Amino acid sequence: MPTHPVIAIDGTAASGKSTFSRALGQRIGYTYVNTGFMYRGVTWYMQEKNIPLTDPDAIAREISAVQVETLLHNGELAFRIAGVDPLPHVREARVNEGVSQVSQVGAVRKLLVAQQQALAEQAPLVMEGRDIGTVVFPQTPYKFYIDADPEIRAQRRSAQGETDVIKHRDAQDSQRQNSPLTCAPDAVRLDSGRFSVEELVATALEHLASRGLKIAT
Ligand code: C5P
Repeated sequence: MPTHPVIAIDGTAASGKSTFSRALGQRIGYTYVNTGFMYRGVTWYMQEKNIPLTDPDAIAREISAVQVETLLHNGELAFRIAGVDPLPHVREARVNEGVSQVSQVGAVRKLLVAQQQALAEQAPLVMEGRDIGTVVFPQTPYKFYIDADPEIRAQRRSAQGETDVIKHRDAQDSQRQNSPLTCAPDAVRLDSGRFSVEELVATALEHLASRGLKIAT
């Protein structure tokens, strides 16, 4: 078991995971960690280095050579690759297009999962991604799976002014061999198309209390 409690949140692309996870983290004073950001950062780096994303061996070689740092700083995730914070680049269309290819590579997952697990030694976490409840922290009793109608998710992305290949990413993320996106059998399913963020957080708080999580109010 991790030293600190971990709330694991998985779900489809543009399902509102980040908005919900951030709101839940703020509400209960847990550190919010977006693992998609880490896979996006690695993808951006590979693209900057002109590594062909169709070549998993080249990606594996590069990830074992570069310095990747994941830590918590002032209550937030700080991620650096080759000393650079990839934040300004992670929502670029080319990253949206390439990230599901990079996230299939075993060496990338192995490195990032180990770093994600280490964060739970430092602070209580709300961690979102695709494999948090199934692979990163399968033993946590606090798990949610978020989804919404694909049309609603597509509208959400275009309202954010982003070009995103949601369907394509979902297909690749669900069908890959390494840690595919699935709903853990013990996760609570939430539909972000039918409920507001406040309602989702209220449902989550009830569930967490029923599982015995003590939350300071
Ligand atoms: O959550 P977000 O949509 O930003 O994630 C971007 C991509 O990163 C996903 O489509 C998926 O390919 C990958 N990912 C992953 N495992 C995670 C988090 C994200 O494979 N835990």
